[in-house]
Amino acid sequence: MTDPMAPPPAAASARTLVIIPTYDERENLPGVVERLLASAPDVAVLIADDNSPDGTGEVADRLAADDPRGRITVLHRAGKQGLGAAYIAGFRWGLERGYSVLVEMDADGSHPPERLPAMLAEIDAGADLVIGSRYVPGGSVENWPWQRHVISRGGNVYSRIMLGVGIKDITAGFRAYRSESLSRLDMDAIESKGYCFQIDMTWRLLNTGGTVVEVPITFTERTVGHSKMSESIFREAAVNVARWGWEKRRGQLRSLVRR
Ligand code: GDD
Ligand code: MN
Repeated sequence: MTDPMAPPPAAASARTLVIIPTYDERENLPGVVERLLASAPDVAVLIADDNSPDGTGEVADRLAADDPRGRITVLHRAGKQGLGAAYIAGFRWGLERGYSVLVEMDADGSHPPERLPAMLAEIDAGADLVIGSRYVPGGSVENWPWQRHVISRGGNVYSRIMLGVGIKDITAGFRAYRSESLSRLDMDAIESKGYCFQIDMTWRLLNTGGTVVEVPITFTERTVGHSKMSESIFREAAVNVARWGWEKRRGQLRSLVRR
């Protein structure tokens, strides 16, 4: 039974940690952090920098020192280990400190922080994972070359078919996770290094009974710096998704045969 004297639960934003991985984003980071804290002033921010050669780590330290409310922390990591590894370190940091919502967001301005309140509202409404989605009605992508559209759309269709899930933007990198659902996943087992990490996490969450909601966003390609997408990142995703799909179907077949 709920205690009538207990205070009402705080809105998700007050217990939220936004993790921003950075690699060579010194020009982009300050503007993104400013927009974020203007849109969601009660969140905490963790910048996970992989010792960027361009000095993003020092820029981040300055942002942290200058925030009067002390909302920003910088995780200085030894060297470039990929997006997935930076997020896993950030998730661990946040879970250890008791944050109840953990958010992933890029530092290059592609993900509109103005949409974070709408995403957190879905966590409050019960979702385990909220995806800031380019491919649900109302969502879109601005300023991508056609090749990126093809890769991204193709990656989503491929994943939907291979894994048999209905999610429209399973590779998206703007997300909010309910911590309880995240802590149920075996993060040590995650081997995906590149953007496949996003599919990997979604697949694990679905397999532990988690619910996913997509909220439309406009993704705007960066104007400064460059994407770290590479052929090996692409290959990793293609191979892993096929393997997960195969493992699922083999499992289904086995249980059919047993019956
Ligand atoms: N710490 C750290 N280490 N950060 C990294 C690393 C790394 O090795 N690699 C990339 N990042 C950071 C970038 O600095 C940026 O803040 C964010 O991760 C995303 O990197 P981008 O290189 O800008 O990614 P993208 O635009 O190609 O891909 C985006 O869209 C994909 C789906 O199309 C990301 O949001 C992906 O997560 C997403 O899957
Ligand atoms: Mn980007």
